Amino acid sequence: MRGKAGVMSEPDSQLPHNEVLAVIDRRHSIRVFSEDNVPDAFLRAILQAANAAPSAHNQQSWRFTILKGEKRKELAALVTERANDFPRPASVLLRMAARSIVGAPVVIGIVNSGSLIEHGTELFEIGRDEAYDFFRTMEIQSSAAAVENMLLAATSLGLGAVWLGILFLIKDEIRTFLGEPAGEFMAVIPVGYPAKPATGPKKQALDEVLRYLE
Ligand SMILES: Cc1cc2nc3c(=O)[nH]c(=O)nc-3n(C[C@H](O)[C@H](O)[C@H](O)COP(=O)(O)O)c2cc1C
Repeated sequence: MRGKAGVMSEPDSQLPHNEVLAVIDRRHSIRVFSEDNVPDAFLRAILQAANAAPSAHNQQSWRFTILKGEKRKELAALVTERANDFPRPASVLLRMAARSIVGAPVVIGIVNSGSLIEHGTELFEIGRDEAYDFFRTMEIQSSAAAVENMLLAATSLGLGAVWLGILFLIKDEIRTFLGEPAGEFMAVIPVGYPAKPATGPKKQALDEVLRYLE
């Protein structure tokens, strides 16, 4: 069924039911979770989906760290403490992020390893700055595909998740917390069963962002 806020709601659509499109439409950011645990097989399936994403040069330069139990609380405490160093609205968003982290049974950290940047810079005969800019962007785009796969896989399993990008403000501390010695913070994703059903915010109509050139 297509959700009210769904970008794909097109009443005249002649499409037969398609489960992938239905999951895309059903996905909304979930920030508050029930206390139910995420089964290990579900978590593994979510990570497999992420790891199957397209990536530049097939480098798969993402690294995943799973936080459970006390580690989630430690991360939430770190984020809450550092929130005090920022003015509103960043501090408010950081505290909100901390609440989602501590409220979720599982939290996934994603870091870009930097391997694509190294690989690409050696491969391409362009200046180091241009190569860095190019391959850092490619690395972020690759990991973004992995994160979206993660969100869709979670939704398909009845779970909810939210992409926490605000932690980029304290990216080096988060990367270190996640145990990654190098690379760059990408995202933190709390995962769990939604505390209540969500419809998500209204999306702009497709025709507002679409142009045909023939
Ligand atoms: C790159 C990126 C960063 C985001 N960072 C945050 C964040 O720090 N905190 C948060 O609550 N939501 C964050 N979100 C979720 C967006 O707020 C959400 O996707 C948007 O409002 C649309 O809602 P929907 O996901 O329910 O469709 C982020 C989403 C993306 C793609």
